Amino acid sequence: MTATILPGEPLTAADHVSLAERYSAHNYHPLPVVISHAEGAWVTDVAGRRYLDLLAGYSALNFGHRHPALVGAAIDQLHRVTLTSRAFHHNQFGLFCRELAQLTGTEMVLPMNSGAEAVESAIKIARKWAYQVKGVPPDRAEIITAGASFHGRTTTIVSFSTDSEARADFGPFTPGFRTVPYGDIDALASVITERTAAVLLEPIQGEAGVIVPPPGYLSRVRQLCDRHGVLLIADEIQSGLARTGPVLALDYDHVRADLYTLGKALGGGILPVSAVVGRADVLGVLHPGEHGSTFGGNPLACAVGRAVLRLLATGEYQKRSTELGAHLHRRLDGLVGHGVVEVRGRGLWAGIDIDPELATGRQLCEQLATRGILAKDTHGSTIRLAPPLVIGVTDLDWALDQLATTLEKLQP
Ligand SMILES: Cc1ncc(COP(=O)(O)O)c(C=O)c1O
Repeated sequence: MTATILPGEPLTAADHVSLAERYSAHNYHPLPVVISHAEGAWVTDVAGRRYLDLLAGYSALNFGHRHPALVGAAIDQLHRVTLTSRAFHHNQFGLFCRELAQLTGTEMVLPMNSGAEAVESAIKIARKWAYQVKGVPPDRAEIITAGASFHGRTTTIVSFSTDSEARADFGPFTPGFRTVPYGDIDALASVITERTAAVLLEPIQGEAGVIVPPPGYLSRVRQLCDRHGVLLIADEIQSGLARTGPVLALDYDHVRADLYTLGKALGGGILPVSAVVGRADVLGVLHPGEHGSTFGGNPLACAVGRAVLRLLATGEYQKRSTELGAHLHRRLDGLVGHGVVEVRGRGLWAGIDIDPELATGRQLCEQLATRGILAKDTHGSTIRLAPPLVIGVTDLDWALDQLATTLEKLQP
């Protein structure tokens, strides 16, 4: 349906939706909420209606919308220098890399922009490492990935996706990947060969529905990698930076990866900032001219990233995520049997399977939106909650009350 847009009249939500329908590629199916302002955990639509944001830009808004320290750092940097390209040095770059390495307990940093770019970069680094250090014959390196993973949308990344929608009609695909069921250590062990360069995993699978692997799985993956001289790459683009409590979700299992991909919250919800961080002897395989990006590590990104790292260095957000997360999961567990079939997750991150007889995830999210809550479905009857870590307990409780009431009203 196309709304008639009258010149001089303020645009309504329907006008904005019809503009998007008419002029943008239809690669998303957003809820019909048109946001014009946001602060903290709340957003406001063009009609002035407020919503509590329980998605937080898929964790890109861990610190909420427009955190004053992050906006302040961005504005300061806007007044100095925003872009130099990597053809020259600038005075935010080295500091950002050092601070990110220190916070993550790693040695070296490769800054990029989007999450998918960080994953692509990690794949390239792992392959190069396999040829130059491990001695894998040219073009024979393999990377093991997990079923139902989500690592981004590039041609190479969708080559190992098991989601048919993400792959259909985008071939031919990039070879060199073996995909095994997530959480199945024997399946993983069975495909490791002398040609295996790396295992690439999300410590908790976000897009798949916030799937937590069986206890001990991640440390067994680490042991297998050590035994066979294989790199472990942890994609912490969504799970990292305090979403699950600790800085890195792998920290919960006391497991270290050789490379981590980070993104989303690293840009403070202001601009895309991603990075591969990890061992110097692995990242060290890259030499000038072999990999890069015009915008990767730009001054504005580094200044905002540094402000993000200062927030994380206080420990406050890790604490909030752990404590409020425990509260969130206690309350969600109480809904099992009352319209909820299963709840998974850790920290302020939850995948909720609702009874498919009651509604699809999409229908539930539409109903929650009418009650002033923004959440996102994943597949079928699963919704996920990832509130900004700045959310107050009263707001969180209010949202959970609304969820409980909505589910109750859906009961036959
Ligand atoms: C685990 C993981 N990796 C990679 C990506 C891709 O990030 P981007 O959308 O910034 O390319 C995502 C995005 O949801 C993600 O959750």
